[in-house]
This record gives sequence, structure tokens and C-alpha cells, in this order.
Amino acid sequence: MFDTQELTLTPQEFRLFRDFLQERTGIYFSDDRAYLIERRLTRRVRELGLKTFEDYFYHVKYDATMAEFSRLVDLITTNETSFFRNLPQLQAFALDVLPRLREAKAGSGGSRSLKIWSAGCSTGEEPYTLALLVLENLPDRERWKVEILASDISEKVLRSGRCGLYSATAMRSVPQEMAAKYFTVDNDRYCVKPEVKDLVRFGHLNLNDRRKLSLYTNMDVIFCRNVMICFSDEAKRHLVRSFYNALRPGGYLFIGHSESLHGITRAFKLVYLDRSLAYMKEGLNALNGEPVRLANYVSGRSSAEHEKERVTSRV
Ligand SMILES: C[S@@+](CC[C@H](N)C(=O)[O-])C[C@H]1O[C@@H](n2cnc3c(N)ncnc32)[C@H](O)[C@@H]1O
Repeated sequence: MFDTQELTLTPQEFRLFRDFLQERTGIYFSDDRAYLIERRLTRRVRELGLKTFEDYFYHVKYDATMAEFSRLVDLITTNETSFFRNLPQLQAFALDVLPRLREAKAGSGGSRSLKIWSAGCSTGEEPYTLALLVLENLPDRERWKVEILASDISEKVLRSGRCGLYSATAMRSVPQEMAAKYFTVDNDRYCVKPEVKDLVRFGHLNLNDRRKLSLYTNMDVIFCRNVMICFSDEAKRHLVRSFYNALRPGGYLFIGHSESLHGITRAFKLVYLDRSLAYMKEGLNALNGEPVRLANYVSGRSSAEHEKERVTSRV
């Protein structure tokens, strides 16, 4: 039987968790979100038969196996996601970015490879959506090597993503013809077909781990949507710098549509695609040694409009 005595997170205990989580994961809990820590951890503290949140804090901190830290991460992260989340960004990816990358690479005789990264992929809906869009929008797909890396800090969501099984509710935003083409159905469960699964590689990565981040290189497109929103500004700055280093010149970064890099970095060019905004890394095109110019990548706006709004300086 669980102890029914009230468990309350004291301000001191809150600060212990807040600082620890920020240091390890980059996630920052402001004072007005203390209730989330209390609500999400109460059950676990009870399950372990501990008396206070402080006891749990030290239990996590000194667990050399890191198993309890992993458990804590599963509990405190928000994993909300969906297939085809924020359609305009995905249309921009499929109808603007993919053709441009394809043209630039095929035209320069460079390698026909595309590397796409879903950073903070949750249960897999985002990377699988990207895989569906590649399959539908890359005409000579068989001539390309496509890799979609899907990373998250939570092992629990990664297990789910690797499994690739979704409920009918989760599938409601997948167009019917794509559901029929790329999923098998069994007892109301939709299973991602191997041709889609094979494009996506799931891996554990803490986006606050700068050493590991430096191993991610040569990306053409990075999606990191609705992840940095809960990071401290310092953690955001480090992460965005790592994304910049991870991208090839001419590569794109998509962040959540309600997020902004304002005050975080000016290294990227903000580009206005027909349907959405994205950040682009300028520089010399590694494929042909020519400068990657913003003008070549802007559509749907006059240059005057664009000049007025574009972010020009580097950090
Ligand atoms: C709200 S979900 C967003 C999922 C998807 N990108 C989307 O927009 O639908 C945020 C994800 O970021 C992950 N996350 C949070 N902090 C992280 C960190 N430090 N490293 C890696 N992933 C993290 C969470 O586990 C969660 O799955």
C-alpha cells in the first residue's frame, strides 16, 4: 500500500531539481512550473517508499547506473507530438527545401545523399512524417542515400518510435492514401512499413551533451521543434551553435513555429519560404565551392521586402 500522507515539494527541494535538471538536460523549470515537478514525481517517490522529494533527489543523483536518472527524464519531459505537425513547415520542407537540395546536389555532381535530423523526436511521428515526405517528393529516390536520424533524451519514447505502432487516433492527421500505402493495420493498430522504417535511425542523445553533439555532422536539414522551448537561454545558445556546426553550408534548421532564435543567435539567415520560415546556414557550398547565397533561396517575397526583414549579421 502507498503512503497516503501528503507529499509536498518544498521550495528548497524544487531548487535542487531545477538546478540539477538544467545542468544535466538544459531544461529549465521556472518557479511557476514547480507544480509540474511535484505532480510528475509524486508517484515515483511513493513507489520507491521514500519519504520526501529530497530523498528522491539524492537517490537519483547518486545512482551510478543512471537508471533512475533515465526514469526521471521519462517523467519530467513533455512528449506531445503528432504526425504532420505544423503542416506549412512540412510543406516548405517537401516542396521548397527538398527540390533545392536535390537540384544543388545533383547539379554539382556531388554525392546523392540526404541527411536529415529530427532532434527531440519523441515517439517517432516527426521523423516518420519526414520519411513519408521524402518517399513522396524525391522523384528519383532510388538513386539517393537518405538517412533520417531521430534522437531523444527519453528512452521510453525511443522504444515507442522504434516499434513504429500507432493508434487510429495518432493516425488522424496522416492523409488516407499515405496511411494505406505506408502502414499495415492490425486490430486498429497502424504499423509503419519497413520501407519507411528503414529510412529512420533512432538513437539516444541528450541535446545538452556538447561532446556527443559534436559527432553529428553533415546534416542537410535539422528539425528541432518544440524542444528548445523548455530550455534555458544558455542551453539554447549552446545547442543552436551545435546545430550550426552540424549543418552543411546551405542546410536548413526548422524550429517550432512559436519559437524564435531572436536574442539567441544571428549566425543563421532567416529565410522566407513560400509556406514557412526556416533558418539557413550560409557559406561556401561544400559541393561546388560556390557561395550559398540567400537570394537563391528566397521565394514568395520581393527583394525589398526581404531586405527589410532579413537578418544579416553573424554572431
Ligand atoms: C514536445 S516533444 C516535441 C516532439 C517533436 N519534435 C514535435 O515537435 O512534435 C519534445 C521532445 O524533446 C525531448 N527532449 C527534451 N529535452 C531534451 C534533451 N535535453 N535532449 C534530447 N531530447 C530532449 C523530449 O523528451 C520530448 O520527446
